[in-house]
Amino acid sequence: MKTLAIETSCDETSASVVEYKDGKFRVLSLVVRSQVEHGRFGGVVPEIAARAHIEYIYPVVERALKEANISLDEIDLFCATKGPGLAASLIVGIQFAKTLALIHKKPFVGVNHMIGHIFSTYLSFEISHPFLCLIVSGGHTDLVLVKDWYNYEHIGWTLDDAAGEAFDKGARMLNLGYPGGAKIDILAREGDRNFHKFPKVKIKRKGYFFSFSGLKTSLMNLLREKGETWISENLKHIAASYQEAIVENIVETTLRALEDLGVDKLAVVGGVALNSRLREVLMEKLGERVSFSLPEYCTDNGAMIGAAGIAKFLIFGEDGQDLSVYPSLGVVEI
Ligand code: KG4
Ligand code: ZN
Repeated sequence: MKTLAIETSCDETSASVVEYKDGKFRVLSLVVRSQVEHGRFGGVVPEIAARAHIEYIYPVVERALKEANISLDEIDLFCATKGPGLAASLIVGIQFAKTLALIHKKPFVGVNHMIGHIFSTYLSFEISHPFLCLIVSGGHTDLVLVKDWYNYEHIGWTLDDAAGEAFDKGARMLNLGYPGGAKIDILAREGDRNFHKFPKVKIKRKGYFFSFSGLKTSLMNLLREKGETWISENLKHIAASYQEAIVENIVETTLRALEDLGVDKLAVVGGVALNSRLREVLMEKLGERVSFSLPEYCTDNGAMIGAAGIAKFLIFGEDGQDLSVYPSLGVVEI
């Protein structure tokens, strides 16, 4: 079975052709057009994102088909992200996929973006169920126990900001531009992570929760107190210390969940899974028990939506043409 999958939930316009054969997913093509338009605003502007998706979607889909060397007639299933995400952006992908399905008389499914991130694991490495999935992205920080395809237990989440948001907001305070996660990562490699000790995050609520807003405030106060000259002289050390506090926070809760659940394997997905310090610490602690999505499947992409879409179609069948978008869809909602 071959699918054409479209992802337009935020600021990446992506299309991918994914094949499912002999129990394995194979990505035949993946095209991602990142919208750089938002950089000067310091965050994604929904109206601009939706307009850009409309402009990019056709060429992106056309290139994905060309790179896979496949025609629309050979596609068995059309998929698109139905949520969570920006409503006007989601509509572009959903409408495009539904129209193609209608014209070519083929089934269509709407896919949960977060379940898409979970499916990036199957595109990246061999893993058996059950495993714990840590989703760390610009909008989410979640722990999901993955028992099987579409059989999930959402066991942990953030009480305020997402991990990627903490990186991006920190980067903005340090004038590194948007999105700044990768920039902090690069700067931090040359910095001293023990330069400044951020207060340890304390969460009273019992369970597997994350919290990053205190760290962000703490960084803001530090920068205000010390001033411009100190900041520019110590930029790489500040980045390294701030990144260390975020990573410590993620790792501590994740390891506790892993041990409590008695699960052997951890899979790490989402944009922040690219962070080199997070990878280093988790590998130090878990060795072969941890796997990370391949870089091209960490950030938002159509291939993960294709894999999740095929699985959803095989288990639950197709969606109707009346399917709408779900901007606030839950992490493991089908
Ligand atoms: O998964 P993703 O592409 O989009 C969402 O679904 O949100 O994640 C984007 C997030 C951004 O916050 C970005 O700053 C962060 O991933 N990110 C990183 C790194 N690369 C991307 N954060 C830390 N270190 C990185 N190397
Ligand atoms: Zn995402």
